[in-house]
Amino acid sequence: MLNKITVSAPGKLMLFGEHAAVYGFPCIVTAVDQRLTLTLEPTNSDKITINAPELQLTGYAKNLADIGKGEIPKAAQIIEAAISVFHQKYPLKKGFTITTKCGFSPNYGFGSSSASAVTTIKALSALTSRNLDQSRIFKLAFAAVRLIQPKNSGFDVAAATWGGTLIYQLDHPVQELNFDLIQSNAAIIVGYTGVKADTPTLVGQVADKRNQNPVAVSRIFMAVSDIVTQAKVAMAGNDFVVLGKLMNFNQDYLRNLGVSSEKLETLISAAKNNGAYGAKLSGAGGGDCMIAIAPKAKVEQINREIEASGGEPVNVAIGAEGVKIENN
Ligand code: MEV
Repeated sequence: MLNKITVSAPGKLMLFGEHAAVYGFPCIVTAVDQRLTLTLEPTNSDKITINAPELQLTGYAKNLADIGKGEIPKAAQIIEAAISVFHQKYPLKKGFTITTKCGFSPNYGFGSSSASAVTTIKALSALTSRNLDQSRIFKLAFAAVRLIQPKNSGFDVAAATWGGTLIYQLDHPVQELNFDLIQSNAAIIVGYTGVKADTPTLVGQVADKRNQNPVAVSRIFMAVSDIVTQAKVAMAGNDFVVLGKLMNFNQDYLRNLGVSSEKLETLISAAKNNGAYGAKLSGAGGGDCMIAIAPKAKVEQINREIEASGGEPVNVAIGAEGVKIENN
């Protein structure tokens, strides 16, 4: 029998284009160096056991034949959906135990669900010696995520799969961008609001707004799409001043969509007033994290001000590696 398989996938930050991405517009996402790790241990029984200690799930077990059926606790839903999608395509023969360890708070909005789906598919691919490539891993993991979050655009699944910094657009191949700040004099700053966002609710609010004002909201999405195009050029030229301005414009549109919050605005202002080139919310809004781009020389001061304004600075490097086997 195979030994245990350990797989990890990165969390993500949306740099540009959230919400518009749900409607098929392009967005820019980057993988962060905080990872979710999943261990799969084959057993000789037909039982599948899932442990996700950070979500208070331990010893949740069911027979392989019952996967995807009946009441499923929330904390097990994504992983069970990923097992079920894989099992339908490539029938599994024996049971196993899956245990996840999240290297970041699931409250940050870094995409722990998508990283769980991607690592589950990658581990099952290794278990069954299929060595699925990234496109296939993405396809199966995205199908699993969509079973639980039908409106998910897939950008977070793409970041967990490919890593790096990507232009992502629903039903289009991903474009990998060469955006590495290590050698540059700029940094991405992240501040957690302390409030967990409810993505489906926020996506629903934007859908309501779009139903009431289809023309206005379509204009916003098209303008955001244009920002994504300009950001791609600015990234290629490491033009951080322009990137900052584009973040500010993107934030104006997000505010117009009604997904910003007082806390997000406070942290965004703290960053901008202390030397950031620009700042915006990242993800669904309503809470979770804000991001800023700033000269490296200003990072400490901005982090201090984010903290003084009631936020939590989160230290991340961007452009991290996608899903990978850690050992087996
Ligand atoms: C949520 O992190 C980002 C949204 O665009 C939803 C999605 O793209 O799936 C609001």
